Amino acid sequence: MQEKIEIIKKEFEEELSKSSTLADLENLRIKYLSKNGSITLLFEDLRNAGREEKPVLGKSLNELKNYCQSSYQALKEKIESSVSSDFSSLDLTLPGRNTSFGRKHIVIKTLDEIKSIFKRMGFSIYDGPEVESDYNNFEALNFPDDHPARDMQDTFFINKDFLLRTHTSPVQIRVMKDQPPPIRAIMPGKVFRNEDINARSHCLFHQVEGLCVDTDITFAELKGTLFAFAKEFYGSDIKYRFRSSFFPFTEPSAEMDITCYLCKGAGCRICKHTGWLEILGCGMVDPNVFKSVGYDDEKYTGYAFGMGIERIALLKYGIDDIRILFENDLRFLRQF
Ligand code: PHE
Repeated sequence: MQEKIEIIKKEFEEELSKSSTLADLENLRIKYLSKNGSITLLFEDLRNAGREEKPVLGKSLNELKNYCQSSYQALKEKIESSVSSDFSSLDLTLPGRNTSFGRKHIVIKTLDEIKSIFKRMGFSIYDGPEVESDYNNFEALNFPDDHPARDMQDTFFINKDFLLRTHTSPVQIRVMKDQPPPIRAIMPGKVFRNEDINARSHCLFHQVEGLCVDTDITFAELKGTLFAFAKEFYGSDIKYRFRSSFFPFTEPSAEMDITCYLCKGAGCRICKHTGWLEILGCGMVDPNVFKSVGYDDEKYTGYAFGMGIERIALLKYGIDDIRILFENDLRFLRQF
């Protein structure tokens, strides 16, 4: 057995000296060190050895195994490191791989365009939290408890006092509580409503709120500002109209329509053959809202407006199902 050990050691050394690739080495490993390798098999022979020789043989067998394993490992590392610094097999003239870049989602793109128009008109931009107090979302905006107007916005309540904001109007309250007039600000963000998800409505969408407060702000300024925005965003040839409406936090309130920018008012599928598209809600800030933030409602007047971004993006890109905006289907996203 001692002889066998010597022979295997010699053979191993000879083959190791001839090994120059990782494949050679792998063959070597299989031949000597694997489960059926000759060294492993020698360990089985050891069982039949006599009592006295067993410890001696076991020791030299272990030495052989450790020696082969470490020589194998050392050569393997040497070959691997020379492979990684050997560039001769690389074709440096091959063209590089194309990297595809991400791009802005059309909701964010639309939001950015709207923000940039209002920024140029002197509006600053404010942010607010998506989890709001019932007070900021409703109470301070002149929706008293149990007022039927609360039903206009189906709400996800977190508990009695907190909810997922149903509109961006609570940011008006935050901005006004933070600073005295004059204020000229827009407040973009996500809003949530407990509505069925279908082609036309979703439980999550985005709004941009606008607020302007100072002495002597009039409805004419509201109209002028929103018309200037609409011309910039939808094209200078649009016409607009205001329809009276109701919001608890504005008085008087209105909805603004523009002539359909696809059919130019003639009537088409997008405008449901009316020639008009509703683009936002607006009105003069209700004095009760000023009272709730501690503003002097005799001294100050203001206007506010709010628009839904998904609706605007869907109309702009001719998409008829809101759900597709949130499915993250790359085939859809890559089109824009
Ligand atoms: N917050 C209103 C809504 O979500 C929109 C609005 C904002 C209306 C500001 C008037 C003034 O429906």
